[in-house]
Amino acid sequence: MNIQEMKAFAAKFLEELTPASVGATVIGLRGELGAGKTTFTQTCAHLLGITENITSPTFVILKKYELSEKVLGGKFSFLIHIDAYRLKGGKELNVIGWQEVIADSKNLVMIEWPEQVSDVMPENTRYIDFKHIDETNRGIVSK
Ligand SMILES: Nc1ncnc2c1ncn2[C@@H]1O[C@H](COP(=O)(O)OP(=O)(O)O)[C@@H](O)[C@H]1O
Ligand SMILES: [Mg+2]
Repeated sequence: MNIQEMKAFAAKFLEELTPASVGATVIGLRGELGAGKTTFTQTCAHLLGITENITSPTFVILKKYELSEKVLGGKFSFLIHIDAYRLKGGKELNVIGWQEVIADSKNLVMIEWPEQVSDVMPENTRYIDFKHIDETNRGIVSK
């Protein structure tokens, strides 16, 4: 799908999103560099009314954005965007408060490169797989 179709996919994804029954709602975004993981998160953030500039958190690892009570029926208070690209195992995520992040049902977490920290990914994580098709097209499979 092209970038426009990807935006529509993000809107539908958010519309159909059901919160996890325990803890945070965690979405793992998989796929190679340039596949569209950050773009997808930026699109979701935009749709959720976040006006701040959503930059890739590669260097800061974790970014937290406050959500208005008016979006997604007030189910979530924060969108947390993580890029685990540079991490080598879940311990490195735990030191920046991962356990607290995933314990809080008010958190909607989008994490790029979950493969890097697979040992601390919650069992109920939902995954979206991104694939680079060509310059303007990406494939998306949601599980
Ligand atoms: N259909 C598409 N979906 C997503 N990104 C696209 C698409 N077509 C082109 N792009 C571009 O591809 C790049 C994807 O980069 P990014 O989202 O940072 O990938 P990742 O976070 O997976 O490394 C962006 O520059 C984006 O504008
Ligand atoms: Mg990225």
